Parts: sequence; C-alpha cells; structure tokens
Amino acid sequence: TTVSTVSTTENSFIKKLKASGRSLVVFYGSQTGTAEEFAGRLAKEGLRYRMKGMVADPEECDMEELLQMKDIPNSLAVFCLATYGEGDPTDNAMEFYEWITNGEVDLTGLNYAVFGLGNKTYEHYNKVAIYVDKRLEELGATRVFELGLGDDDANIEDDFITWKDRFWPSVCDFFGIEGSGEEVLMRQFRLLEQPDVQPDRIYTGEIARLHSMQNQRPPFDAKNPFLASVIVNRELHKGGGRSCMHIELDIDGSKMRYDAGDHIAMYPINDKILVEKLGKLCDANLDTVFSLINTDTDSSKKHPFPCPTTYRTALTHYLEITAIPRTHILKELAEYCSDEKDKEFLRNMASITPEGKEKYQNWIQNSSRNIVHILEDIKSCRPPIDHICELLPRLQPRYYSISSSSKLYPTNVHITAVLVQYETPTGRVNKGVATSYMKEKNPSVGEVKVPVFIRKSQFRLPTKSEIPIIMVGPGTGLAPFRGFIQERQFLRDGGKVVGDTILYFGCRKKDEDFIYREELEQYVQNGTLTLKTAFSRDQQEKIYVTHLIEQDADLIWKVIGEQKGHFYICGDAKNMAVDVRNILVKILSTKGNMNESDAVQYIKKMEAQKRYSADVWS
Ligand code: FAD
Ligand code: 2AM
Repeated sequence: TTVSTVSTTENSFIKKLKASGRSLVVFYGSQTGTAEEFAGRLAKEGLRYRMKGMVADPEECDMEELLQMKDIPNSLAVFCLATYGEGDPTDNAMEFYEWITNGEVDLTGLNYAVFGLGNKTYEHYNKVAIYVDKRLEELGATRVFELGLGDDDANIEDDFITWKDRFWPSVCDFFGIEGSGEEVLMRQFRLLEQPDVQPDRIYTGEIARLHSMQNQRPPFDAKNPFLASVIVNRELHKGGGRSCMHIELDIDGSKMRYDAGDHIAMYPINDKILVEKLGKLCDANLDTVFSLINTDTDSSKKHPFPCPTTYRTALTHYLEITAIPRTHILKELAEYCSDEKDKEFLRNMASITPEGKEKYQNWIQNSSRNIVHILEDIKSCRPPIDHICELLPRLQPRYYSISSSSKLYPTNVHITAVLVQYETPTGRVNKGVATSYMKEKNPSVGEVKVPVFIRKSQFRLPTKSEIPIIMVGPGTGLAPFRGFIQERQFLRDGGKVVGDTILYFGCRKKDEDFIYREELEQYVQNGTLTLKTAFSRDQQEKIYVTHLIEQDADLIWKVIGEQKGHFYICGDAKNMAVDVRNILVKILSTKGNMNESDAVQYIKKMEAQKRYSADVWS
C-alpha cells in the first residue's frame, strides 16, 4: 500500500483517535518486529497516565494528518524507528521518511518524542531516529521528551526501559497529568476457542492468504512466499566441528528474479520437540483451534498472527519461541507464579533497578534462556498458552546473501549458511531456528520445499565490467562474492573485458573451513580471480584479512585511488567490517596523502557513488 492509494476514512489515524477518545499515537518503523513491539508497549502504557493510545504503521497511514494532531487536545505522537543497513529507514517507514525529508510542512502544535532502534556496530548508528527527531523540530513540532537511542549490540531492552522510565514523568509534566502511574497489566487480545470451525478455514502456517502454500500464485513476496525445492544441501566444511551448508533452491516457475548481491529470505519453522515441551509446560492441548482477537476494535491488526489456527501451528510457524524474552514478558509471567518467591524473582528481573537489570542480564541474557528454559527453571510459573501466544514476538524470516549469479543460474538460488548451535551456561544446547531447519532439508529423501522470497539490495557489481573490484569477505562473508565472481567469469567467457577481481578471504584453518576452495582456486588458475587468504588459526599469531589489506596498501590505493575501482565488504558487522573500514581510512591517508577526515570524506563519497558497499550482519 502507498499513502496515496489508501482510503483516508479507513486509514485515518486522526479519525480513529478522535472516535475512540485517544490522544496518543505511536508510529513504528520496524523490519524485524522489535520497534513494533516497543510501540505496542508504549501505547498500552499510556492508559496508566490517562493517555489512551494506539499503534500505527506509517505505511498504512496518511502521514500528512500529523498536521491535524494539534486539533486533538493534549495529544502526542511517538515514533519508534529502526535504522537498517546503510543508515536506511525500514521498508514501512520509507515513504514517511521521504515525505518528512522533502516536504516543507508546518508541524507547529504537534507534540512528539522519538525512540530509535539501531546497532552500534554499524556505521550509521540510529541515523533515521536522529534525523527524524531533528527534522520534526525544524518543521515546528514540539519535542516533549529527548530522543532515546537503543543499541541492539548491547542491550536494547535496557535502553528502552530506561528511556521509557524517564519519558512518562516528562510527558505527565508537559501535559499536567497527575496520574498515579499505577501499573495495569492488560490483555491486548482475547481468546476465542473455535472447536467447530471448518477444517479448511484453519491456518496451517500461511503467512497471509489462507491456502497460499497449496495454491501458489505469483507475485511472490514477504506476505506470499514461494515454496522452493531444495535441490542440493551439501556440507562445505571439512573438519573443525562446525557446519556450513551449501544449499541450492529451485525457483523455476516462480517468476522471481534476482541479481548477484540480492538477498533471499526464508520462513523457517521451530523445532518440534521444543514446541511440544512448551505445550506441556503450559498444560495445553496443542490441537485446540483458537483465535486471538484484538480487544481494540479500531486496530488494523485484528489478530497477532493468522487465525483461526491451532496452538501447535502458532508455536511452530508464527512465534519466535527461542528468542530471549524481554522484561515486559517477565512481568506478565510473574502473575502466573504460585510461589511468591518466584513471582518476586521475575518482577525483580523486569524492574529498572540496577540489581534487577543485572539479574536480567545474567539470568536471562547471558544464560540464553528462552521461554521454555524459563518455565523449566521457574517451576511454579504456569501461564496459559494463549497468553504466551500473545506475548511472544512473531517469527521472522531469515535473510541470506545469495551466493550465485543469475547469469549462470537464472532459476537457481544458492545459499551459504553456517549452522547456529551453541551450548548455554545452563548446559543446554540452543539451535538456530532457520539454520537447523535448513540442515534437515535433505533432497535425497524426497521433495523438500522451503518458503522464500527475494529482497533486492543495493549491493551491486559495477555496471562496467572493466572496472576493477576489491572484495573483502571472510567466513560466510564470501557468499555474495561467489555470485560476483561467477558473473565476472561469465562476462569474460562472453568476450567482455573484465577488470581485476580481487578477493580477500579469511577463515580459521586452510584444511577445515576454507569454503569453496576448489572453485576459487579454479578461478585463480584461469586468470579471473586474484585470491588473498588469511587463515587465523593455522599458526600461533592470528592472521586476518585486515592484516593482508594493510600489507597490500599500494595495491589497494592503485585500485581505489588511481583506477577508481569498487570496494566491497561482507560478513560480520561486529568487528571485521569496522576494522576493515578503519584500515581503509589509514591506507587512503598514507597513500593518497590525505588527513584522516579527508580520508573519511573520501569513503563517504565512494559510498554515494556506490563504489564502496557493505553487506554486513551481526
Ligand atoms: P537464530 O535462531 O536466529 O539464532 C541466532 C541468535 O542466537 C543470534 O542472534 C544470537 O542472539 C544467538 N546466538 C548465536 N550464537 C550464540 C552464542 N554462541 N552464544 C549466545 N547466543 C548466540 N548468515 C549466513 O550464514 N550466511 C549468509 O549469507 C547470511 N546473509 C545475511 C544477510 C543479511 C542481510 C542478514 C541480515 C543476515 C544474514 N545472515 C547470513 C544471518 C542469517 O540471517 C541468520 O541470522 C543466521 O543464519 C542465524 O539464523 P538462525 O535462525 O539459524 O538462528
Ligand atoms: P578467528 O575466529 O580465529 O578469530 C571468519 O570468521 C574468519 O574471520 C575467522 O578466521 C576469524 O578469526 C576471522 N576474524 C575474526 N575477527 C576478525 C576481524 N576483526 N577482522 C577480520 N577477520 C576476523
């Protein structure tokens, strides 16, 4: 939907606010659901301060109505906005972002506050929220409380509750509200059991349209994924105890197209054993057919996930049951403890006291306890399954950098994924949802399909093949570069002049996790690729790609500074990408005779020209 096509009566947030006597609207820019969850929590808490609230998706709203907020007495608009990728807004906030950036409207009389969701390991930390907060003020709106910034690399839950705790008193001050601020726990959805519903009306894991998995109809996208056959699932590691999968998906007949550098998203399902465990812990009959229905009849979100469905389907397909629960969930769980000590323990962990925060950090986060582990370890806590279904976040699709070129494989998509599996401090083994799901997909035992869609990216080869490129991709960071190299080979085979193609690859040990070694060596042999490898654990001292780049300063400067080549980084956002960027700054300043700030500017310019691109994740 776009702003211009939505009917204003149905999607008018102003009308909704007025009709239901509300004064608080919380907009979210969310990609993986966290910003939406935070928005929901704020809207709900408004009641404590006699500010009835609602959440709103900017994509479904006519945001020009912000001009009319001033007509509602004591009204407040809050924005929970995530920053993604290279400092971009989320898809659903894109249009709002453009409107506020380019529009010259007068927002005098609009009261607002912004909370940002970002990740410090990325270059453009919380860029979207910082900008919107500043821009709203420029346009005349009134900032009711200071901008809050959440860092997903540290503890975003902590950042949020700490901000929220100061936010409400300021709001009360601002509007002269004398609320008791008494905490009220309230259900957002009511349970309706539906034993008599016709079997073919029950959702079985569809993302949106009923029976969409049985009757597949293009176009395929996030709401309507394509069931792609897994045709290859092969181990890439030769030792070392970890697993890296090479997976080939058949997308023939889907009409989905991709370019090297795009991402493929996959909807996984949860581990069956874990689902059964959770059912038992909640004393639930997982075959029960039910709906959760929003008690707020004005909300555009009638159900938290497709309903009616069974608890088994909800826990398997729709809910993130292995996510580490946030404090508001603990607060709700406390209500279901028969033992006062357990109740106190949970409440304490959910509080913003330093002691509570530390407990949460240790007992939940550092111990990687999911909802199942919590219920196993707090024996007197027995919540009803429907409330668990209301509280857990929606299961998110997982993204993978496509590791093939569509020039070579127009109807196949390749994925290169490391299996996530780790032992927790409580002695449990936690398994990554999507990678464990993929691991089981064995084409030799019959047809196996996975729901996927393609997401276009900005990560692109130069349009002119003669431009040289430098790629830095240790570990699975190699994924998109495999596609790039395939494409450069294809162009060469077709008689095109292809510039230098230089890859920096790193892994632990040459004989264990040097993925796609044979392929890469083949490309080197036929002159398509220059390969530089760093094996970090084959000797005493660590050798990383960053060390190699440092040594190759002359080459890097020649390709970037003199030949105006492109520079790409892919893989771990946490340390590697930052280190590589810093080294590049160093090389540019020494070899290109710039001071540090000029070198930083130089990279910024390269970014604007799409000559410097990062495809990184944490
Ligand atoms: P999840 O169930 O999501 O669990 C992962 C979570 O477990 C982590 O976020 C972390 O919180 C926790 N965790 C993991 N290890 C530990 C530990 N040792 N201790 C404590 N907690 C831990 N991945 C690839 O393999 N290849 C790719 O090409 C690729 N491309 C990507 C491209 C993009 C744009 C993005 C955003 C991500 C990409 N990823 C890629 C990552 C991928 O999307 C998934 O996040 C990853 O596969 C894990 O998914 P999962 O469902 O198996 O694990
Ligand atoms: P390590 O695990 O031995 O520390 C792929 O993950 C490779 O990247 C591994 O060899 C890993 O080494 C290495 N690596 C870890 N941190 C890095 C960093 N900051 N820069 C470059 N490579 C890094």
